[in-house]
Amino acid sequence: MKLQFWLNHLLEKSQTLVQKTQKRVLVAITALILVTIAPLYYPFLGYFPSFLWNNSSQSSPSSSSFNTVKNTKGAASTTQCDIFTGEWVPNPEAPYYTNLSCWAIHEHQNCMKYGRPDTEFMKWRWKPNDCELPIFNPAKFLQLVTGKSLAFVGDSVARNQMQSLICLLSRVEYPVDVSYTADEHFKRWKYMSYNFTIASFWTPFLVKAEETEADGPTKTGLFNLYLDEFNPEWTTQIDDFDYLIISAGHWFFRPGMYYEKGQLVGCRYCLIENVTDLPMSYGYRKAIHTALRAINSLESFKGVTILRTFAPSHFENGLWNQGGNCLRRRPYRSKEKRLDGTDLELYRIQVEEFKVAAERGGKRGGLKFRLLDTTQASLLRPDGHPSRYGHWPHENVTLYNDCVHWCLPGPIDTWNDFLLDMLKMEERSHTADLKKVTR
Ligand SMILES: *[C@@H]1O[C@H](CO)[C@@H](O)[C@H](O)[C@H]1NC(C)=O
Ligand SMILES: *[C@@H]1O[C@H](CO)[C@@H](O)[C@H](O)[C@H]1NC(C)=O
Ligand SMILES: *[C@@H]1O[C@H](CO)[C@@H](O)[C@H](O)[C@H]1NC(C)=O
Ligand SMILES: *[C@@H]1O[C@H](CO)[C@@H](O)[C@H](O)[C@H]1NC(C)=O
Repeated sequence: MKLQFWLNHLLEKSQTLVQKTQKRVLVAITALILVTIAPLYYPFLGYFPSFLWNNSSQSSPSSSSFNTVKNTKGAASTTQCDIFTGEWVPNPEAPYYTNLSCWAIHEHQNCMKYGRPDTEFMKWRWKPNDCELPIFNPAKFLQLVTGKSLAFVGDSVARNQMQSLICLLSRVEYPVDVSYTADEHFKRWKYMSYNFTIASFWTPFLVKAEETEADGPTKTGLFNLYLDEFNPEWTTQIDDFDYLIISAGHWFFRPGMYYEKGQLVGCRYCLIENVTDLPMSYGYRKAIHTALRAINSLESFKGVTILRTFAPSHFENGLWNQGGNCLRRRPYRSKEKRLDGTDLELYRIQVEEFKVAAERGGKRGGLKFRLLDTTQASLLRPDGHPSRYGHWPHENVTLYNDCVHWCLPGPIDTWNDFLLDMLKMEERSHTADLKKVTR
């Protein structure tokens, strides 16, 4: 909020000045603002992507000031383009791997193995409105991450992205399993030729949590969530990582008892008489806040924190446990589908808490936070989920029609196209910093 205020303030100031001075001064000031804000602001272009306010009466909290920056920025080079706002366009050349060329595909996302009859869902690429997003280049990716490490912190959708990344990189090299534990929730993979490590940390609520009932009101477990407490399973392990990709969301739909300062403050759908029912967004905001605060509190962490925004599920004609399913076979056009309801709420919470953390990180001494804004691209892909092709038909699985995870290959591969673009950006800003220092 403060960053927003500062930006508004700057723009207002420039407008007041303009009234008193020549137009040439306006140009100079605008240029100055752009020079000082744009490089810093690039990663924030995803703050409120235009899909949130395009053809929409609801206005984004920052749309006016953001638009000003956006509209004055001129022709879009890849450096200044909002890569997260666009459309899916056909790509006959995709996919770039198969379940035969890549062993890293999780069973439940190996849709072709379980008989998915159509293949069109693999044959799209993301086209940002103002530029091209290059298709994933594994050699370039490995060059950028040589000698570095990347951790996926979150739930099974985070793992889904990690496995997509391993498959995309498999055209160049497969990693070696260097996990510290046999627990599949905590994997470590190493690319020997590149000294590059990928790790995954299982923490679907991001904060300290425990399951107190396997069943609970919705048969999905009942959890105690300690909304203001770090989960040491990951917060004590990330000091040395160069990149963290933090994400969470779907588990917050489950019933949970919310604790703060060790006291029960309420619950989400626990159906216990004298416990206050709180909305899921209450727990979600606190959890995201605490996770990002944990990162900012680490003395020796110097990495880049990437918050991956919420990817909505696509159940239709019922909830996940009431016969809902995802049977569409084509992406939506951006005009056809608007982010709304709980999905919009979760997304906004992420963006707001991200801003708070980014500002705090900046004050702490340049700790970098970036937004990997997968929400719109994912929202437009109801066709990319396993549905009933995540297991054999006779198998008794909790999520029978899976409209949450993503088939591999599939639309989630694009998240890694975004990631590569962001890494390129980091390299460019790093090079620019070095030039400044040596000048
Ligand atoms: C890969 O998919 C094919 C169908 O396209 C299936 O017959 C095969 O069993 C799958 N193999 C693996 C290893 O998943
Ligand atoms: C490999 O990378 C790590 C950092 O991830 C670094 O500490 C180590 O020195 C590197 N090893 C070699 C052989 O370059
Ligand atoms: C609910 O209220 C009853 C009686 O007022 C009390 O015994 C019980 O401990 C309360 N439960 C919780 C979870 O606070
Ligand atoms: C599926 O599994 C659940 C518990 O794991 C059990 O209660 C249920 O009866 C099973 N259903 C079938 C059709 O086997």
